[in-house]
Amino acid sequence: MVKKIGLLTGGGDCPGLNPVIRAVVRKCLEYNVDVIGIKNGWKGLIENSTIKLDFQSVSGILPKGGTILGTSRTNPYKKEEHLKSLHENYKKLAIDALIAVGGEDTLGVADKLFKEGINVVGVPKTIDNDLSCTDYAFGFDTALNTATEAIDRLHTTAESHHRIMVVEVMGRHAGWIAVEAGIAGGADIILIPEIPIDMEEVIGLIKKRHDRGKTFSIVVVSEGAKFGNKDLVTQEEKLDEFGHIRLGGIGDILARLIENKTGYETRVTVLGHIQRGGTPTAFDRVLGTRFGVKAVELAIAGKFGQMVSLQGNKIIAVPLSSAISELKTVDLELYNIAKVFFG
Ligand code: F6P
Repeated sequence: MVKKIGLLTGGGDCPGLNPVIRAVVRKCLEYNVDVIGIKNGWKGLIENSTIKLDFQSVSGILPKGGTILGTSRTNPYKKEEHLKSLHENYKKLAIDALIAVGGEDTLGVADKLFKEGINVVGVPKTIDNDLSCTDYAFGFDTALNTATEAIDRLHTTAESHHRIMVVEVMGRHAGWIAVEAGIAGGADIILIPEIPIDMEEVIGLIKKRHDRGKTFSIVVVSEGAKFGNKDLVTQEEKLDEFGHIRLGGIGDILARLIENKTGYETRVTVLGHIQRGGTPTAFDRVLGTRFGVKAVELAIAGKFGQMVSLQGNKIIAVPLSSAISELKTVDLELYNIAKVFFG
């Protein structure tokens, strides 16, 4: 019998987390199940930092970005004593099931903990949309719309000033935001982590556009895109607890190269965390709500080690282990559609 559920949000935040929290709490209330909010991802379970969640605590949070529970990039497997405290606190809190909302790192930990006997259900969250076994994670749609709006805005100023505008968007391993925002915003070139940057091709495409009378171009690049077999462009060497380096700077390098090789004035805009903030779109609110309700249903049915997932228009359960086994990179069919409009 599941009488008490723990809920946490881990990793990078994104719009749609609060709709999940609200849905979990409201569904639990329907079943008379208590919900304990664990603060700041796995850190909260290591430190026993929790809050009781009830009707009142989730009132009004549906349209709010971020997460009322807070988040962190804490990896409990980094230190043995942390893992021990986590297990002790899980017992102390008398939680019957744990709902973990996160991306590849948070859900990777969830899967390991499930294998150690903790009753976990996962909910996929990522603006990068790179989690396998789900068509979409919430957060992506909002980030995509933010990036598209930014490209629209850059378009008008690029055209007025006859400039090349390079737009750096998020996307560590997968270029979903770049490709979809690029298609939606009418980008002239889109560069993604999946395909090494060929500078000659980029210059050729820009020149081709200018040759046919266009005096401006929009280049969208994912932060994780690379030149040939060169390293990722990073802001600092330090790794986080999951071994990730802080990305950023590819847009600047690209802009300098373009300006030097074409002679056209080139500017760069880095969208950064703006893509992760703000109110969730209706799509992300609905998806987050559906995921939250389904996660509670799975927990109550004792279906642990599973992740809720959107496939087609159905919300189903998939094994956590399959969802984290490999990242979902950009569909080349989609990239080929984007390429029709290059240059
Ligand atoms: O994983 C999602 C993501 O938005 C990546 O695209 C990006 O590299 C990373 O998070 C940035 O995270 P942080 O909040 O640590 O800067």
